[in-house]
Amino acid sequence: MNVKLAKSAGFCFGVKRAVNMVYDRIGQTDMPIYTYGPIIHNEEVVKDMESKGVHVVEDLSDLATLPKGIIIIRSHGISKSEYDQMQEAGFEIVDATCPFVLKIHRLVREYSMKGHYIIIVGNENHPEVQGIRGWVEESGVSIIATKEDADNFALPDAVPVTIVSQTTFNYNKFQELVEIITKKGYDINVLNTICNATEERQTEARSIAKESDAMIVIGGKSSSNTQKLFEICKNECANTYYIQTSSDMDYTKLRSINNVGITAGASTPNNIIEEVSKNVRNEL
Ligand code: F3S
Repeated sequence: MNVKLAKSAGFCFGVKRAVNMVYDRIGQTDMPIYTYGPIIHNEEVVKDMESKGVHVVEDLSDLATLPKGIIIIRSHGISKSEYDQMQEAGFEIVDATCPFVLKIHRLVREYSMKGHYIIIVGNENHPEVQGIRGWVEESGVSIIATKEDADNFALPDAVPVTIVSQTTFNYNKFQELVEIITKKGYDINVLNTICNATEERQTEARSIAKESDAMIVIGGKSSSNTQKLFEICKNECANTYYIQTSSDMDYTKLRSINNVGITAGASTPNNIIEEVSKNVRNEL
């Protein structure tokens, strides 16, 4: 009887770090604590933080009327102007931007200062992409996400081009778009800034599911990365369960099973993963 819990289950390094940075501040200061946007797309975690006095600020113009305090930047990062706005409003900034995203900010700033035109491959409505865009200095910037965007792209001036990617963008799609731009004959500098946390989680889930007689995938029903994990696992192990919390699982179903695998989506908190894994072990 074996239970195998994926090492990459749950929060990635950057989100884990940001969530810990918020919890570390609780009780350490008399000042109010705010996060700029929810620290993670997980209602339970956000509610728990709220119950401990951490408030979510959605709009920076609200800072003018709020009591001064600490404002924590989430792992997606923010633009330079948002950073300046927080400082001007007199708030103490705790920067929980993932170091991989900070690196993109630095690169985009550096190359745009050298006169490069910047192309960001990613979803233009995603806060991470909006943040990256906000670090482009003097030169121009375009955001592309589809083959059509790449086909239609035309460089306005004869300057070098630097291409970066949103950290969670699909690698094959990134390559495809870069190829289209490359064929246009521009002077191109490609920086692959994709983070492999998602890919690692998927690869590990696949290999555990392959060896398991039952597989449990934990995560929100609307979380697209959890849905993807479920699909991958279901392909390898027909007996795969998709649960949001421990109470969704009928553990008695695992009684006669030898090998159980567990993984979790990127926004599933550790306490839920631990509870499921404890209950599985108790049942076996
Ligand atoms: Fe997570 Fe940072 Fe990668 S937030 S997905 S480790 S870029």
